[in-house]
Amino acid sequence: MSASKPARTGTLTDARRSIRGRGLTIELPDGTTLLDAVSGTFNLPLGYSYPGVVAAIREQATHAVHLSSEFTGERAQAAVRPLLEKAPPGITKAWVRDITGSTANECAVRIAQKATGRREVLSLFLSHHGQTLFTTALSGNSFRRSAFPAAQSGSGVKIPAPYCHRCFYGQNYPDCGLMCADRMEDFLEFASGGSVAAVIVEPVLGNGGNIVPPPGYFERLRDICDRHGILIIADEVQTGLGRLGTVFGSSAVGLRPDIITLAKGLGGVGMPIAAVLMRPELDVLAAFEHSFTSGANPLALAAMEATIEVIADDEFLAEVRRKGAELGDLLKDLGKQSALVSEVRGLGMMWGLEISDSDGSPDAATAREIIRVARAEERLVLRPSRYGFGNVVKVRPALVARDDEITDITERLARTLTRVEKQISTGANR
Ligand SMILES: Cc1ncc(COP(=O)(O)O)c(C=O)c1O
Repeated sequence: MSASKPARTGTLTDARRSIRGRGLTIELPDGTTLLDAVSGTFNLPLGYSYPGVVAAIREQATHAVHLSSEFTGERAQAAVRPLLEKAPPGITKAWVRDITGSTANECAVRIAQKATGRREVLSLFLSHHGQTLFTTALSGNSFRRSAFPAAQSGSGVKIPAPYCHRCFYGQNYPDCGLMCADRMEDFLEFASGGSVAAVIVEPVLGNGGNIVPPPGYFERLRDICDRHGILIIADEVQTGLGRLGTVFGSSAVGLRPDIITLAKGLGGVGMPIAAVLMRPELDVLAAFEHSFTSGANPLALAAMEATIEVIADDEFLAEVRRKGAELGDLLKDLGKQSALVSEVRGLGMMWGLEISDSDGSPDAATAREIIRVARAEERLVLRPSRYGFGNVVKVRPALVARDDEITDITERLARTLTRVEKQISTGANR
């Protein structure tokens, strides 16, 4: 080894140290700290550094970083048992061979197709189900599909989302009688290819703009699906693992799915791992039909085990509900005080502020400006809906956020909104 090379001690030298995460805080190499109000990429329910999970990963690394599924299958099944105990009725089986939410959703589609012998999958406008070609095709946004011919066909039709703030049908809830759910039957009859295996839905549409379907929507969807023999896949990649104050988001919104997909939060502190849960009669795949080299690798399993132990605990979830209600109240107060915010909506620790102009039209440019100013002036990390194409500012701190951190987030956001409002009223350049 040449004298100029750093010694390989296994510890970080200054030159190699980059960005550190602790709890809800990101420490940049120059010493600046940022308060992360969005849990990384919405995948850190336990924050950046939850000691029990980090210790489990460290400990596992000393045993084996990789083992083939022949040696990990049993452990993976045991690890998800506490989740199955709290799953929506009838969900008793698990497939733990995925690394990302995208492929977990593809797994769910495979299951639905093989079990029903049908082909198509219905999805919602504004939905996001992943970045593989097939899940890009499934997702309800043309901007993600436009450059990729292979992502433009092969799934099924898209139907209007239950987005009451800007209802596709121009209706008002509850006078609408849940038209957006009922109209699904028209799409089945006139727009589909007549071979619909499943509908895939997010309990709260995350990337689409934190859209919370109105009461009764999912019950109506279930009735329609039952009448037509269609399975429901709940994409819980964002809402699973306590985000809505219950282990599964489905339980918080009256959704009774046949298949559930989990990813993001499953690794607790960002360890990539995904799973698919299902009714027993849907456990139809053979291992060779859907598995990946690093699916359920031991490091990810260790993180998942430690994470589930924390999150499937009733007291932990009660705290999430309490803190989520507090966060929601503070954000609603902000919304009332700011002319930029036309609606504040959410559940548990998953909130969004819809940003509109003075005519009430969606204002994505101002949403982006709020996020820019929050970062630059308040050292607060926020994220926009639809990769910045949307007009919703998302606020989703780690579930372990302390009360003072929740207050801090809303105070920094309040100052940001005031600053941006002033910029707009004085015509200052963005
Ligand atoms: C609801 C939903 N489903 C699926 C995915 C895809 O997950 P991944 O990025 O792990 O493939 C995402 C990612 O943002 C998501 O939000």
